[in-house]
Amino acid sequence: MNKGFIISLEGGEGAGKTTILEKLVAWLEYEKVDYLTTREPGGVRISEKIRELLLDKENTDMDPRTEALLFAAARRQHLVQKVLPALNENKVVIFDRYVDSSLVYQGYVRGISIDEVFKLNEFAIEGILPDVTLYFDLDPKIGLQRISDGDREVNRLDLEHFSFHEKVREGYLLLKDRFDRFKVIDASQSIEGVFSQVKAEIIKAGIVNE
Ligand code: TMP
Repeated sequence: MNKGFIISLEGGEGAGKTTILEKLVAWLEYEKVDYLTTREPGGVRISEKIRELLLDKENTDMDPRTEALLFAAARRQHLVQKVLPALNENKVVIFDRYVDSSLVYQGYVRGISIDEVFKLNEFAIEGILPDVTLYFDLDPKIGLQRISDGDREVNRLDLEHFSFHEKVREGYLLLKDRFDRFKVIDASQSIEGVFSQVKAEIIKAGIVNE
């Protein structure tokens, strides 16, 4: 049992997860760590199809529970087809978003409740939780500004009101008090500053030796 290792990256829009992920991968390559990176929702064919439905700007009438079920369905398929085989090969699996995104976005922000969404997800993940979660904490004003300055395509969730993004941050900060695996990374620093905090957490977790 207990093979492999799961790291999840979490945060609001524009917090810099993707940029840091690129740097993290380069470092893990250099350190010869056997890893797999993946993203949610998506990562395998069926889950990418569900992702299209979820992020489609036309689907403004989607019910919150439908949204939660679709995220959980995408998660399940991805876990079975891609993540479990990698864990069985003892890989370090790095998720760009995992179950905590559902707890925050569907559970807290959409108002279903964190506990209800956790129950729903337990059915999908059967106990496969992250070993370490790196939460990139940033004032959403700065995050949304970064997105509008960059060339990343705007999706359905980016178009939510500002209060939605403020609640996303509140939700993550609630999870921090709930789970020991949650590590808060100050994403307002320079990229180098953020990355050195990330490296320190990875070393602490024993993935890379100091
Ligand atoms: P991203 O590709 O920028 O991370 O966008 C994915 C969007 O989906 C982001 O706004 C967060 C949202 N999301 C949820 O609401 N619930 C989930 O379970 C996941 C994985 C993502």
